[in-house]
Amino acid sequence: MTDALPPSAADKPYFERHIFFCLNERKNGEDCCAQHQAQAGFDRCKLLVRQAGISGPGQVRVNKAGCLDRCAAGPVAVVYPEGVWYTYVDASDIDEIVNAHLIGGQVVERLLVPPHLGH
Ligand code: FES
Repeated sequence: MTDALPPSAADKPYFERHIFFCLNERKNGEDCCAQHQAQAGFDRCKLLVRQAGISGPGQVRVNKAGCLDRCAAGPVAVVYPEGVWYTYVDASDIDEIVNAHLIGGQVVERLLVPPHLGH
């Protein structure tokens, strides 16, 4: 016998959106997101989400992650529940992801990871 989730838990996720930033650092010299300003991207996203007042339950959560296994496209971040993968090079890219996607719900097409790029 399984217990059904209460309606509120089934109808609404705890966070509306989750963005995970790969911050993986490889000590052996192999390429990794940490070599491409991933920490700066994460820090800026976290700051902007807080400043926008959209951080927390029912809203947006910005999370650190280890290797997301799409290293060839690094640095990468992925937004759920949509499962949209982004790459970025500078602060203005992060600003656009926050404003367009995390706040506005619109995918930033120019920053999408090409589908064939993986490990
Ligand atoms: S090191 Fe970032 S996706 Fe693998």
